[in-house]
Amino acid sequence: MHVMNVSAPIVITIDGPSGSGKGTLSQMLARHLGYHLLDSGALYRLVALAAMKNGTDLDSEDAVAHVATGLDVIFSLENAGSAQILLEGIKVTDAIRQEAVSMAASKIAAYPSVRAALLDRQRAFAVAPGLIADGRDMGTTVFPAAQVKLFLTASAEARAERRYKQLCTKGEFVDMAELVRDIRERDERDSNRAISPLRPASEAVIIDSTAMTIDEVFAKMLAAIT
Ligand code: DC
Repeated sequence: MHVMNVSAPIVITIDGPSGSGKGTLSQMLARHLGYHLLDSGALYRLVALAAMKNGTDLDSEDAVAHVATGLDVIFSLENAGSAQILLEGIKVTDAIRQEAVSMAASKIAAYPSVRAALLDRQRAFAVAPGLIADGRDMGTTVFPAAQVKLFLTASAEARAERRYKQLCTKGEFVDMAELVRDIRERDERDSNRAISPLRPASEAVIIDSTAMTIDEVFAKMLAAIT
């Protein structure tokens, strides 16, 4: 008998540095294709926030890995499809985007045992009909067999400017030069860590969004997928 696995999910990975537009584009693609969405950065942010909240020593890899293993998180869809994130039943959708959490997430993401603790949780998102997996190591480590791999990047200045505007609309005011410095520091750490560094998979389609609008990037991504 010929058995075909018709429900095998399609996985499309979108990796790249923060501020490259990955988050927005991943949401747009997931909605357009009717696929599920994994915001893997949110998982690292959640571990960082949970650790900060309960007084875990961020310098202790074991203690942070323990937090990652027991992470009580729910990703829910609420009013018109906007995603809400609950940590131990409390809404933390905005809290995980704060600069202090960004820095802590980048630090704890370098711990191999934290990454290992989050691996199965991330792979469980790959269900039919398909998944858009947004992160740093989606195409290289988490979903090496993904059917389509995209790598989205932009200059540090362009990314800092986008982040600046994003924070301003949320009423968070930060110094632009500090933001560029923070982005460079985070890039450096994410790209040079020993485990799962930020780098394109060898077969990834690389898109530089520095001088492109969101709609132009979206069109380019769709063209790469279909
Ligand atoms: O994409 P983001 O800015 O929300 O990610 C937060 C941090 O988590 C960032 O410093 C990089 C890290 N991260 C990672 O190491 N691996 C991923 N797959 C996603 C994010």
